Amino acid sequence: MKKFIALSLALLLALACFAACSKTEGNEPAPEAGKKLVILEEPLTAEPYGFATKLGNDSLIQAINEATQELVADGTVKALFDKYNAPYTAPAAPEATQAKEATDDSLQKVKDAGKLVIATSPDFPPFEELQDDGTVVGIEIDVLNKICEKLGVELEIQQMDFDSVLPGVQAGKFDLGVSGITATEERKENALFTDPYCMSAIAIVVPEGSDIKGKDDLSGKTISCQSGTTADTFCRANGYTVSSFQANSDAQMALTSGKVDAWVIDDLTAKEMVDAYNAGV
Ligand code: ARG
Repeated sequence: MKKFIALSLALLLALACFAACSKTEGNEPAPEAGKKLVILEEPLTAEPYGFATKLGNDSLIQAINEATQELVADGTVKALFDKYNAPYTAPAAPEATQAKEATDDSLQKVKDAGKLVIATSPDFPPFEELQDDGTVVGIEIDVLNKICEKLGVELEIQQMDFDSVLPGVQAGKFDLGVSGITATEERKENALFTDPYCMSAIAIVVPEGSDIKGKDDLSGKTISCQSGTTADTFCRANGYTVSSFQANSDAQMALTSGKVDAWVIDDLTAKEMVDAYNAGV
């Protein structure tokens, strides 16, 4: 009997402790929970998107660039933005450069293989997004399918985190990086880019009612973003306190769970992800 009482007491104590602990563990809703997200008006930077390949793949990037620019010029790219309900901002006309004769075999290799292997991080709607059935859809996937048609090859998609895309492309593991990649001067030193096919911008996302109203309010705040992105580079260069995440959805969740004060991300993707989130709040 004594044993039974002792055991029951121990059990009760354990239960009480468990209840207390789980309370202090913070099961209470985060202050941000239930609040809608807002994209601030003022854009931080201009982001020209292009496709990238390894240095030396001159014939390949020339062919991809030609095909891409044809699709821009004949309105196909704009029509694809319309299809995904995204506003299209055309890039400045590419500088007329005398195309030098490319003598490398990178284009021939792709044609011989019969496929173009692209690297993408499919967490970036409306450019590339993973569907429940495992397929990747989006504006860039549609553009690439059209480019492949022009080249007479199949499209093969390899999925990875964004911070693996450019290193993999530079190492020649894939033919082309297709991932809403901003063609920055720094990146152009380590990879060949097409001329931009669209313009985007980096935006600040905050919970409704936040005291962050623009860039000037970011100092001293904590910010989430996706690892290896221009948003990440921008925030660190400005000395903000940054939490970077491999998956874009985790960067968003850091904000909605109140772990950070703001989320910095390219505006068109911000719009897609914020709309989807707000629809459920
Ligand atoms: N435009 C930004 C960059 O080049 C973000 C791209 C993120 N892309 C993605 N598929 N998650 O750094």
